[in-house]
Amino acid sequence: MMLTHQCSGRASFAFLVALLLVLFLLTANRLHNGPSAAFSRLKGDWISVDGEEHHDGQQSLSAEKTNNFCSQDFEFLRQGDLGLTDNIVYSRRCIRAVHGNVDRDVVTNISTPLITSKTTLSLTAECTTVEAPPCERLTLHVPPNYPQEQYRHLIFGVASSHDRLKESLPVFAHWLSGTGAQLVAVVSDADRTDATFDLPSLEAEYRQHDVAATIIPPTQKVAIPRKDTPLDATPSAPSPVEQLHFLLIRDMLDRATPETQWLGVLDDDTFFPALHPLSAALRQHDHTIPTWLGALADNFVSIKIWGYMAYGGAGTFLSVPLARQLAPHLESCIRETTVVSGDGMLRDCVYAHTTTKLTLVDGLYQHDIRGDPAGFFESGRRALSIHHWKSWYRAPVAQMAAVTRVCGDCFLQRWRFGNDTLLANGYSITTYRDGLLDKIDLSRVEGTWQEPDGKFDFVYGPFRPRLSEADKKSYRLVAVDGEARKGGRFRQVYVHRAPRKDSGGSSKEEEEAEEGRMDEVVELIWEG
Ligand SMILES: *[C@@H]1O[C@H](CO)[C@@H](O)[C@H](O)[C@H]1NC(C)=O
Ligand SMILES: *[C@@H]1O[C@H](CO)[C@@H](O)[C@H](O)[C@H]1NC(C)=O
Repeated sequence: MMLTHQCSGRASFAFLVALLLVLFLLTANRLHNGPSAAFSRLKGDWISVDGEEHHDGQQSLSAEKTNNFCSQDFEFLRQGDLGLTDNIVYSRRCIRAVHGNVDRDVVTNISTPLITSKTTLSLTAECTTVEAPPCERLTLHVPPNYPQEQYRHLIFGVASSHDRLKESLPVFAHWLSGTGAQLVAVVSDADRTDATFDLPSLEAEYRQHDVAATIIPPTQKVAIPRKDTPLDATPSAPSPVEQLHFLLIRDMLDRATPETQWLGVLDDDTFFPALHPLSAALRQHDHTIPTWLGALADNFVSIKIWGYMAYGGAGTFLSVPLARQLAPHLESCIRETTVVSGDGMLRDCVYAHTTTKLTLVDGLYQHDIRGDPAGFFESGRRALSIHHWKSWYRAPVAQMAAVTRVCGDCFLQRWRFGNDTLLANGYSITTYRDGLLDKIDLSRVEGTWQEPDGKFDFVYGPFRPRLSEADKKSYRLVAVDGEARKGGRFRQVYVHRAPRKDSGGSSKEEEEAEEGRMDEVVELIWEG
């Protein structure tokens, strides 16, 4: 029996239904008659790869031989939003994670290459039954899984616009879903006269994702005038988001329970790769006394401008006793401050009304990083928090950190393969020019972002110089799929994008050059 059905068009639902039907028929057929040729080939190459050995018929990279497979797994790559070229150069490894007591900060050397064979695949052509690409087994030693815990001692507060809260749901869900930690979200534009937001339905959406969210309009209806603002300048204007950010202390205290230990004041783009290490870091501090935790900015220029305080984007944590000391003074603190930012108001209020001083927590990052953040993410540094990932730089943080569910602290753990390849788990696979990787001091941070010199050393140093594109070829993580529970597969898709075609007519030579412009995709498939 041959798989000869067609699958033109991307992400076709009809195709999926047909595929499931065929798989069902094949399975039924196998149950009755033993494995058919087509099925056993699929089984051997893709559905259950269980040998360490190379598979037969590896495809060599060749322009004429462009392959495609009618497999749900390749459907995932066909999704339009991955934005891949029609033809791709594809390779994959199947990873067996061995959990144990590993030193996650050491770059482990693996003498064999990571990318062992490449196949050219068409994402648009008809399905064929030629050999599927091999998925050679790779064993990686990783830390234990994070324990399944509840975090009812944590409340997080965020003030943001309705639309930003709606679009941020998957990212909040990554670190909050199923944790028991509360999220209090104040919708900063809910009181606008033209606003037609349905807050209960947004809250229901969050709760469908198992996030214990409370989504409310501002409790402070009008802006509180500062002492340096003439009273009649902004009569009954709505409270600006900075004031709402500061007033989150009150909104969170209102919802604190006897279990609550810490109030986390966040920006709407503060991201935690996982709550377990954050909670472990907070546990080092005393929540029964007034305590103020956070991080400075990582660009010293910001500190010169804004001063010494817990920068909001990194996440700021107040113990309940400190929050209770501040609560009666919040409005007067806004009146008295000359600072426009919520984190600045908090700093002034803490200084004016308590003797508490800021305690810095390693691993919380304000990320005042503009441009390419690769140097940070490829440095092996552990991050309790990440910030500015959708504005100053762009990184798909929820997809990147999804691997924390497979192997806990292995996010951004590094491995070296052969003599030229570095995996920074969840972020990138990088191949270096021959001989270069041996010369690089991997304990240093590559200065990939704008102006790292001097300004960032006190947080990230020592640096090493930025490499050129000729020295370094990176596949960045763009998507993940699945779960690595028993019998499941968690897939990380790393892509090196080909330069895109310029518009305009193309000559024969240009068209030929075009054929070479294929995105390169490496999938790491973690088997549960
Ligand atoms: C890995 O190899 C590099 C380069 O040969 C070497 O400097 C490093 O010490 C090795 N690391 C380990 C953990 O053996
Ligand atoms: C790196 O490994 C490749 C493949 O094994 C080999 O051809 C090359 O000479 C090696 N480079 C160095 C600098 O050792």
